[in-house]
Amino acid sequence: MKAIILAGGQGTRLYPMTTVISKQLLPVYDKPMIYYPLSIPLLMGLRDILLISTPQALPMYRQLLGDGSQLGVNICYAVQEEPRGLAQSLLIGERFIDGDQICLILGDNIFYGHSLTSVLTDTWSGLEGASIFGYPVKDPQAYGVVEFDRENRVLSLEEKPKKPKSNYAVPGLYFYENSAIQIARQIQPSPRGELEITAVNQEYLRRNRLKVTLLGRGIAWLDTGTPEGMLKASEYVEAVQSRQGFYISCIEEIAWRRGFITSEQLERIGQAAKSTDYGKYILSLIGG
Ligand code: DAU
Repeated sequence: MKAIILAGGQGTRLYPMTTVISKQLLPVYDKPMIYYPLSIPLLMGLRDILLISTPQALPMYRQLLGDGSQLGVNICYAVQEEPRGLAQSLLIGERFIDGDQICLILGDNIFYGHSLTSVLTDTWSGLEGASIFGYPVKDPQAYGVVEFDRENRVLSLEEKPKKPKSNYAVPGLYFYENSAIQIARQIQPSPRGELEITAVNQEYLRRNRLKVTLLGRGIAWLDTGTPEGMLKASEYVEAVQSRQGFYISCIEEIAWRRGFITSEQLERIGQAAKSTDYGKYILSLIGG
């Protein structure tokens, strides 16, 4: 399986000019937002990662993350010229994916919590067709929404419905067999002119090849699409980190715990950042 992180333009609900300064480069509390989605492939042990962004922002991502060797992974980059929809990322990533399965992550989604890694790896190991998640929210009309029957079988999927049929939103984390690329090629743009990822998922539902796993109370899914969402996500990260002492989405820590980098490599990263709490945290890991 290979990972695609889509961290492109738009985000117009957040602030203007997001094609120039991709919002995923902004900090959520103490680290760039992109670290949070990047932690997903690292937790899963996926070492081939494609980051897609705007032509303007891509050089900044390259500067920040390089080729990934400092994390013991391989990070490649690709441009999305215009925000033509989430499913376009599957077409842009086709050569990189090279026939493999796909883990698609939206760059502005944050996941954290108990048993997250086992949920992710279980989903991957049982993958047939497409596997997505459902998460209860108070404002489902802002998201893709999944409807179930009493036996928890999926009845429908809708993108930003005015009258949602359930309060289960679909988070921006999707697992696909390679057939998703073919499906993305066949779907038509929506009225808002985008290749919707929900249309890809609807096609898997039609083929009876869509699995939806409900994420429970133990897992936090945070949305950073609005200024309030950014602030709340920062507050959440600060609260958990200062209370527990464990950092959320410290990508260097995850790479080290996964055995992608050595303690010496981790120490060098910590030393270079030792004037910050983030760097001090990294150095404390080696001591402990
Ligand atoms: O966050 C989960 C939701 O993400 C899902 O429930 C929806 O089904 C899905 O359509 C998507 O909805 P959003 O309204 O949040 O998508 P948005 O257009 O805000 O794009 C999500 C991120 O992807 C955002 O950081 C910008 C980036 N993006 C978006 C598009 C459309 C791109 O990089 N390229 C694009 O073409």
